[in-house]
Amino acid sequence: MTDVLILGGTGWLSGRIARLWADDGAAVTCLARGERPEPPGVTLVRGDRDRSDAYDRLARDWDHVVDVSSRADHVAAVVAALGARARRWTYISSVSVYADDATPGADESAPVHEAAAPGDEYDYAAEKVAAEQQVRALGDRALIVRPGLIVGDGDPSDRFGYWAAAFARAGSDRVLLPPLEGRATQVIDVDDLAAYVVTASSAGVSGAVNAIGDRHPLRDVLLCIRNAAGHCGETVVGEAGWLADHGVAYWAGERSLPLWLPADMTGFMTRSNAAFHRTGGVLRPIDDTIARVVADEIARGVDRERRAGLTREDERALLAELL
Ligand SMILES: NC(=O)c1ccc[n+]([C@@H]2O[C@H](COP(=O)([O-])OP(=O)(O)OC[C@H]3O[C@@H](n4cnc5c(N)ncnc54)[C@H](OP(=O)(O)O)[C@@H]3O)[C@@H](O)[C@H]2O)c1
Repeated sequence: MTDVLILGGTGWLSGRIARLWADDGAAVTCLARGERPEPPGVTLVRGDRDRSDAYDRLARDWDHVVDVSSRADHVAAVVAALGARARRWTYISSVSVYADDATPGADESAPVHEAAAPGDEYDYAAEKVAAEQQVRALGDRALIVRPGLIVGDGDPSDRFGYWAAAFARAGSDRVLLPPLEGRATQVIDVDDLAAYVVTASSAGVSGAVNAIGDRHPLRDVLLCIRNAAGHCGETVVGEAGWLADHGVAYWAGERSLPLWLPADMTGFMTRSNAAFHRTGGVLRPIDDTIARVVADEIARGVDRERRAGLTREDERALLAELL
């Protein structure tokens, strides 16, 4: 039986990887503090990676180790503790490692940010770069998966799902959009990503691979979400300067228009996914993802508190000022 250790395994993505591998017949062990339930059929070992003894109970041979940590010190410690005991090692990094967000179509050879050094103030991208360096020391046993924006039902970041909720809650009322001209978007369905991690690790793929979907004009994706959500009202575009003056942020977080990027970030959502396809990655049609996200947002409540986007009240106030 294939023996798999997931460092994590109770999170949104890592939980799906754990479940998929368990459904596939592997013996799956997860290491987590246990703040969230483990998927069915998976053994949870409770441990805190802030502690130096975190890996003691896991000191045996593994066919596959998968790590989702965004802390370089955690990654360094586990590579030191278990690196010699693993046949294959997969690290979930991010396209945030890339230093250049302007050049469209860049592949995995593009320059990355400087790696975090011990004692530096926490910076997600720098930590991911430093963590990748630790994993690369394992040579061709290591696969580094660099996802772009991960989307799907249950997304804890609330970014992509904002648009499903915004169109669904508006019904026949107006919806505020960001500038769409020249804007692209590129996402990966969480289940396609989990499937890729399992199949690429099992196939012995090594090196770094961008795990992202195909590029779509942002306009087309929002229109597809609008249709799926049954919106029949008007859409109103706010200009970039006007939105900035009114405290509306790009991309993510409170009082933002998610997925909207500054005009000069033309390379951020337009990266090459050739290696992903070449190494067995499969993408479902984006309409399938959108249908699932719309159903999930409606089930969770379109007016729920969110980590990203505008509240309905803020959106109405902005529209009233704009028109
Ligand atoms: N969302 C995106 O669009 C996006 C884009 C690019 C890359 N990524 C990457 O994709 C991955 C997402 O994975 P995910 O959804 O599974 O992440 P997650 O929801 O943050 O889960 C993290 C896992 O690690 C465990 N964990 C956290 N701190 C720990 C500690 N101190 N000791 C032991 N276990 C600990 C958590 O369990 P406990 O809390 O119970 O300990 C959980 O199982 C990350 O690597 C992220 O950087 C995300």
